[in-house]
Amino acid sequence: MISREALINSHFVIPAKAGIQKNQHPGHRLSPVRRINQHFPSCLLLAALLWLSAPLAAGGEAATASPKGIRMETIFLPHPRTDGDFPVERAMRQRRSVRHYSGAALSLSEIGQLLWSAQGITGTDGRRTAPSAGALYPLELALVAGNVAGLSPGVYRYNPSAHALTPVAAGDRRAQLAQAALDQAWMETAPAVIAFGAAEERTTWKYGRRGIGYIYIEAGHAAQNVFLQAEALGLGAGVVGAFDDSRTAAVLNLPQDTRPLYLMPVGKP
Ligand SMILES: Cc1cc2nc3c(=O)[nH]c(=O)nc-3n(C[C@H](O)[C@H](O)[C@H](O)COP(=O)(O)O)c2cc1C
Repeated sequence: MISREALINSHFVIPAKAGIQKNQHPGHRLSPVRRINQHFPSCLLLAALLWLSAPLAAGGEAATASPKGIRMETIFLPHPRTDGDFPVERAMRQRRSVRHYSGAALSLSEIGQLLWSAQGITGTDGRRTAPSAGALYPLELALVAGNVAGLSPGVYRYNPSAHALTPVAAGDRRAQLAQAALDQAWMETAPAVIAFGAAEERTTWKYGRRGIGYIYIEAGHAAQNVFLQAEALGLGAGVVGAFDDSRTAAVLNLPQDTRPLYLMPVGKP
């Protein structure tokens, strides 16, 4: 169960403009209490909203308001399963890139499980399912949803601390994404695409140019987790590295400091 403090904390790293988490270095090392103090008036309001929304914490929605008054629904994903009985060896043996999908919708719990496998929080100290150089966590996940039961088509940001999705853009953007990926039309037939981006500064402030390599390695770790998790769920995923960076960033509404790295269409084979 996620504590209310974690939920509140996670809300304060969501920039007003877009859903993807802003470069946090070195501010993300601030204690939760200091971060909350910086936003004390809005903190009270959010704490009240979160208190009211507590019963929705597994698969529900909490209405919040952006500074422009646009209604933002934070979608709390169902708690991930952490002790599945599908052997990891079988997942590795069976895994293949899947580019054909049945047309069936994905469920919120499948989406939540896939996102958790990539960047879910698994330690009380905030560590995640995938390793990260210096535990600096530069990766950001976006979900381009087209056919997910219980989720309006749109682009969402995954918030690992809250295991929740924050809307970034409304409307089905799968076709635009496929076009940005050098017209790989098969991508738009997937019910959803998980997009990996990175706020590089979070790692390069410490490791310099070598940090760029670390970020790609981290994306590989996280993407393989998604591949294996998809297999265990009876789903199929593909990977796409061939895309136009700036067009893809625009489709995903990434902030300036976040660069797209990898795309994973996923669906029922
Ligand atoms: C870094 C990287 C980029 C890739 N980019 C694409 C891509 O843009 N489109 C595509 O259809 N497959 C892409 N692939 C998938 C490979 O074509 C695929 O992994 C390879 O053919 C082996 O097949 P398998 O994944 O089924 O084992 C990419 C794979 C990697 C590792």
